[in-house]
Amino acid sequence: MSEKLWGGRFEKSTDEMINEFQASINFDKRMYREDIEGSIAHAKMLAAQKIISADDAQKICAGLEKILAEIEAGEFEFSVALEDIHMNVEAALTEAIGAAGGRLHTARSRNDQVALDTHLYMRRQVREVQRLILQLQTELVKAAEKNRDVIFPGYTHLQRAQPILFSHHLLAYFSMLQRDFDRFEGVHSRADLMPLGAGALAGTTFPIDRNFVAHELKFSALYSNSLDAVSDRDYLLEFLSAASILMAHLSRFSEEIILWCSREFSFIELDDAHCTGSSMMPQKKNPDVPELVRGKAGRVFGHLMALLTTVKALPLAYNKDLQEDKEGVFDALDTVKFSLAVFAQIVAGMKVRAENMRRAVEEDFSNATDAADYLVKKNLPFRQAHEVAGKLVHHCIARGVYLKNLPLDDFKKFSPLFDADIYDAIKPETCVAARISQGGTSPAQVDAQLALAKTWLEKNS
Ligand code: ARG
Repeated sequence: MSEKLWGGRFEKSTDEMINEFQASINFDKRMYREDIEGSIAHAKMLAAQKIISADDAQKICAGLEKILAEIEAGEFEFSVALEDIHMNVEAALTEAIGAAGGRLHTARSRNDQVALDTHLYMRRQVREVQRLILQLQTELVKAAEKNRDVIFPGYTHLQRAQPILFSHHLLAYFSMLQRDFDRFEGVHSRADLMPLGAGALAGTTFPIDRNFVAHELKFSALYSNSLDAVSDRDYLLEFLSAASILMAHLSRFSEEIILWCSREFSFIELDDAHCTGSSMMPQKKNPDVPELVRGKAGRVFGHLMALLTTVKALPLAYNKDLQEDKEGVFDALDTVKFSLAVFAQIVAGMKVRAENMRRAVEEDFSNATDAADYLVKKNLPFRQAHEVAGKLVHHCIARGVYLKNLPLDDFKKFSPLFDADIYDAIKPETCVAARISQGGTSPAQVDAQLALAKTWLEKNS
């Protein structure tokens, strides 16, 4: 004899170790709310369709509400022998209300039930991720506005390239997060499909009304194929992809923050409350938070690869392999939400060392393009102008000076087109202000970006 809800066919009860191995309750119990919500909608539909009596449905709904309250109060005892959240709730219901509890699972399988729960859960959680993206974006806009005019070196190959506004750099991350937000919007729309009614795989012999359930649970549409409804994990793969790309963005930002607060750069300082010290070296103030975010990106990528591998070559319809979807998705979700939340704090608390950024621009050759552009505006072909400016830089390095300190006579030796106004043309402010092309770093363009960013935030908040 078996104590299982599916025990009829069995002579022996499940081996203890096998029970533990196959149970998912320890991680799927976080979907208790969705499981109960889904069951209430299902029971109402069964009654509306006269598949069960209105009286039974009422008992079921009241019983489920009580179980929900018990779980939320921490008074519910989950059992590993009951495998998962679905059977834990159903067993407790039957214990509480008797025979009516046994009617709840009419026209339903755990295969479509788990799909429903996970859709409901992800639909809700994706909104939370989006809210946290907006929160980080809001901090980026604030930091960009506060440091609107701070000039710092833009880099390519991690070599100083051209002077840009620090605010422009921050807004690049705003744009990346905007795409992340949109990707999660796509995840949401795919999670917003109602799988219940697929039964185990083939549909059901009862006259159910799937639209009723979809309406109760505010789903936008139904799965149109029952096999697909129970087998589809695309929305989770899409979630993990979107989460991975987001973590890649945060880890790029982390890397920059870590560099910027090194002594070598000294471009920013993080708030004391956001850093940790060393147990041995008394002078240390370590940027652990961005380091951890950078590190955690790897585990989110890993969850994506794991689920892709799980569904690869998996035959239709439900296979127990699919139970492996949850832990990775839940961990990715927790990781992404936590990382976004701490990042907003890091950005809000970061102090910008504008004087050091300024020095990095002054004491270098990131204005060399502007010296070349100066000649081009005097009609020298760009290739020749590039050559002249390159030779100038070479000459300056040999003499141990920067372009701004080079006497005009020296400039003229390299090209007669140089005049006294070259000094103004290569000032960092001039270099920045001159980049007026759309999306460029000039203050006017950055203001335009800021305005767009704020409109977008307002629209999506
Ligand atoms: N715990 C299972 C899962 O997460 C629920 C579905 C079980 N279905 C089954 N036929 N064993 O996938």
